[in-house]
Amino acid sequence: MIYLFGLLAMNHWPIWAQSKPFWLPAPESTTAPVMDRVFYLILAICSFFFLVIVGLMVLFVIRYRRRPGVEPGRTATHHNTLEIVWTVIPLLIVGLIFYKGFAAYMDMQTAPPGCYEIRVSARQWAWQFIYPNGHVDENLHVPVDEPVRLIMTSEDVIHGIAIPAFRVKMDLVPGMYTSTWFRAVRPGTYDLYCTEFCGDDHSDMLALVVVHGPGDFEKWLKDAANFLKTLPPAEAGEMLYRRRGCSQCHSTDGTAGTGPSFLGIYGKTHSMAGGESVVVDDNYIRESILEPQKKIRAGYQPVMATYQGIVSDDDITALIEFIKKLNQDNPTP
Ligand code: CUA
Repeated sequence: MIYLFGLLAMNHWPIWAQSKPFWLPAPESTTAPVMDRVFYLILAICSFFFLVIVGLMVLFVIRYRRRPGVEPGRTATHHNTLEIVWTVIPLLIVGLIFYKGFAAYMDMQTAPPGCYEIRVSARQWAWQFIYPNGHVDENLHVPVDEPVRLIMTSEDVIHGIAIPAFRVKMDLVPGMYTSTWFRAVRPGTYDLYCTEFCGDDHSDMLALVVVHGPGDFEKWLKDAANFLKTLPPAEAGEMLYRRRGCSQCHSTDGTAGTGPSFLGIYGKTHSMAGGESVVVDDNYIRESILEPQKKIRAGYQPVMATYQGIVSDDDITALIEFIKKLNQDNPTP
């Protein structure tokens, strides 16, 4: 108990609660240590009462076990002082947990003014991070030591964004916007997960958070946004293939995923679910991107959402060149 009160009174927490904890990733955002303190506070309280309750239980089981010749006495029905004590103490503890938790939650929810804003769009099963200059990326790139606000929505079902190193977690809900914010403290690369079960490939709905050092972020963003103009179309197409989330469902090595593989499909004739045959040419690829429900390849589910309004004509041209190039790079014998 003394230890517990010591923990509460302290402004500086023990080193094991501050630096790299063994079951959590090292805290890499300004809010992470605040969250960790609440976590360790609740853990300490729970551990203390677990030991007291289980300890007393074991002691009583042994001490007051039934023995031959000993009759159970009358049990007390009321003990006012005891009942007040065991009501008031938990009430104070729960009040403290609420206060600490709510304060940390408000910290996490209330973005400081002047945040750098990034839009996040989730779909089965990919992330899209949309930057103020229109650039779309499959990974989240952020500047170090600057507050970043994510404004998020989903295109289909509920997804959840979680960046364990930042202690950030928030749901993305179709038809509404949610937001969260963080300030990264160190350049580096961290994991980002989807934490709502959103279908078959939920566990593959991963991305990276790249925290850029001072000045690097602006340079990265400028280069990243220009790739369609600076790269050859097939290479730009490959970038789009990864960034726009095509890679989540369409492989490039021939393995069937949620959708057919892109390998070797160009120029081939395929049978559709409706029974007709279709040659995979430029127009078919374009139609499949903009109106994916129109012709479904036999053996696959009609699960793809349209990219109408999301990819431009230049994007589609680059993607077609990328699919074509897969044929040239892997000639069939
Ligand atoms: Cu998206 Cu799980």
